[in-house]
Amino acid sequence: MDRIEITGGERLAGTIQIGGAKNAALKMMVAALLGDERLVLHNVPRLADVATMRKLIEQLGLTVEALAPHTLSIGGAITSVVAPYDIVSQMRASILVLGPLLARQGEAKVSLPGGCAIGTRPVDFHLKGLEQMGAVIELEAGYIAATAPRGLQGAEILLPFPSVGATEHLMMTATLARGTTVIANAAMEPEIADQALCLNAMGARISGAGTSRIVIEGVGRLGGATHTVLPDRIEAGTYACAAAITGGDILLGGAKAVHLKALLQVLSEAGAECSEEAGGVRVRARGKLQGVDVKTEPYPGFATDMQAQLMAVMCVADGASMLTENVFENRFMHVPELSRMGARIVVHGASAIVRGVRELSGAPVMATDLRASSSLILAALAAKGKSVVSRVYHLDRGYEAVERKLSACGARIARVKE
Ligand code: EPZ
Repeated sequence: MDRIEITGGERLAGTIQIGGAKNAALKMMVAALLGDERLVLHNVPRLADVATMRKLIEQLGLTVEALAPHTLSIGGAITSVVAPYDIVSQMRASILVLGPLLARQGEAKVSLPGGCAIGTRPVDFHLKGLEQMGAVIELEAGYIAATAPRGLQGAEILLPFPSVGATEHLMMTATLARGTTVIANAAMEPEIADQALCLNAMGARISGAGTSRIVIEGVGRLGGATHTVLPDRIEAGTYACAAAITGGDILLGGAKAVHLKALLQVLSEAGAECSEEAGGVRVRARGKLQGVDVKTEPYPGFATDMQAQLMAVMCVADGASMLTENVFENRFMHVPELSRMGARIVVHGASAIVRGVRELSGAPVMATDLRASSSLILAALAAKGKSVVSRVYHLDRGYEAVERKLSACGARIARVKE
């Protein structure tokens, strides 16, 4: 297993080009199952999760061709309706093939994903929504077996919580259902609006994506399209935190300030300068940052996917901060590892109280999930001495070329292959 070695203490300065959004690209690859012509996606990040999704849709019969390093062409006929446990257990987003397979083939069998490092993460909203659209669902031997004996029809779906995955899943599926589907209390993440743009380019009729009420008029078929994936706001946010924690100055090339509002507001409150510039978003730390209190919420609130990284920054800010996790119940796995580097953090239920220390010290630490990994990388960049972050396969799920991007800004970072 690879590890990353970092000698901390360098002030980072320069430009980091932000890649395409993982969490949008994965869902668009699934959307290719809905069309009967090829879908060409530009700005697809080169990540372990994208490779896993490629494996899954190839297993279902599609062909995936890399036309360029960040361009995929996806198409072909569906030849299997089974998403097996070994793939779904590696990547939960695999569950999203259920509805599209059902819409195209009338049946699907997808492994239940099970729990994961950040919580139990049920899929009940997904299944309930599909049932409202006419799916008959049974659970057998760890698999979700779904059929649509009378086809899928539009429905009025009220989500109990604005789940990103359930919104995307039901929105995609509804494109091929008879009649109109309304998703109320829908998630409003920018990736959902981008997915709707991609689906509409394929011939779908979706309006309201990016708001809490999405209306989908079902159509008889979807074709192909060419779409460019939006920039990854979590990758951008992570490097914004790298500028903040190292007292640095980084231009996040291609990032969109409008998607980063909640984070930029928090970093500004903490004392960093954040500005929108022609080429992207610039984050400059001036002097010592101040502790801030933050709670995670669905978009446009502060993203749960940025909580671990902000915590690393708060570990060396002046005063205390309280970070409250409202989206997932078990997303503080980075706390014991940050503590090994000298951070002072106590967790009370869903809140972590961080008392800023003057300096962190380098240590061997272990990544437990994707964003926890990036939080440890950030802490290591600021820490005195050398840190070794192991289990970086988590990091490779969501960050492309992290060592190259950070070392170009002056970080002393290297991957050690095993
Ligand atoms: C997506 O996960 C992202 N993953 C996550 O990013 C992200 O943290 C999350 O949205 C929230 O923003 C992808 O897009 C692939 P949810 P998702 O459904 O869709 C509960 C990363 O680091 N819930 O919005 O699975 C659920 O347990 C990853 O890139 C149900 O109870 O998240 C959670 O508490 C990690 N029943 C809350 O809703 C359901 O059927 C929000 O989850 C569905 C969700």
